[in-house]
Amino acid sequence: TDRYAVIGNPISQSKSPILHTAFARQFGHELQYDKLLATHEDFAQTVQRFIDEGGKGMNVTAPFKLAALEFADTLSDRARAAQAINTLKFSAEGVHGDNTDGVGLVSDIRDRLGVALENRRILIIGAGGAARGILLPLLEARPAHLLLVNRTESKAHELVEASGASRQIVAAGPLSAVEEGAFDVIINATSASLSDAHLPLERGVFAPDALAYDLVYGRGDTAFMSDARRLGAAHVADGLGMLVGQAAESYRLWFGRRPDVEPVMAMLR
Ligand code: ATR
Repeated sequence: TDRYAVIGNPISQSKSPILHTAFARQFGHELQYDKLLATHEDFAQTVQRFIDEGGKGMNVTAPFKLAALEFADTLSDRARAAQAINTLKFSAEGVHGDNTDGVGLVSDIRDRLGVALENRRILIIGAGGAARGILLPLLEARPAHLLLVNRTESKAHELVEASGASRQIVAAGPLSAVEEGAFDVIINATSASLSDAHLPLERGVFAPDALAYDLVYGRGDTAFMSDARRLGAAHVADGLGMLVGQAAESYRLWFGRRPDVEPVMAMLR
């Protein structure tokens, strides 16, 4: 039986074991997937012990996504761009670090929700770790335009500059001060939903067929989601699909096959 695990602190809430066990069942694959609790002091030691015991891969969740960068021997471009790791793969070549959060979001929007990203106008609200993690995969989906706004304007500029600033991405300050017109996909990458805070959203932000997507999940309708619906967003989603999508991409990285997310979404709901 292959051994995998998720590491974090806290860790009891993690849905990763349920997700990966369900994926493995789709392929008739035996998988042992555990939860590992660590501290900042013993993170590296805990991962190393798991490798020594024959572990093949690991998901990394808060607060260790940054610490895992130092543990990895090689990094994918998207992990480097995100400055965060959510997936480790252990092999004879060493420890490889990747980040499937952004591609999990893109596949959720495009494949599961059926909303196109290519040539569309995308708005990202927020400039913290969550925003940084999704930037490169969203740009790779070839939007016509990507605007990143943040309450603290300087952080938006820093993030866009660090991303290598391709031409279709622009940074700006608070949403309330932006006069940019309507967007097709509006992503809430702030932590505002965690405190039920409202963002200064206006009707003009939403194109007629707009998707409003909150990266947060498990909180029912967030303030962002209900505001967006009221202001005319045609489609509204929380981050549960991204959670399942990132797990599916981790599974693919480990086993070379992409599981079907739909039955797993249904199970979680
Ligand atoms: P995470 O890793 O979840 O992205 P973070 O790095 O602390 O967390 O970033 C939180 C983001 O949410 C920031 O962009 C923050 O804006 P500031 O940079 O101005 O602090 C944003 N945020 C949090 N609460 C907010 C609120 N009530 N309104 C607008 N933006 C908010």
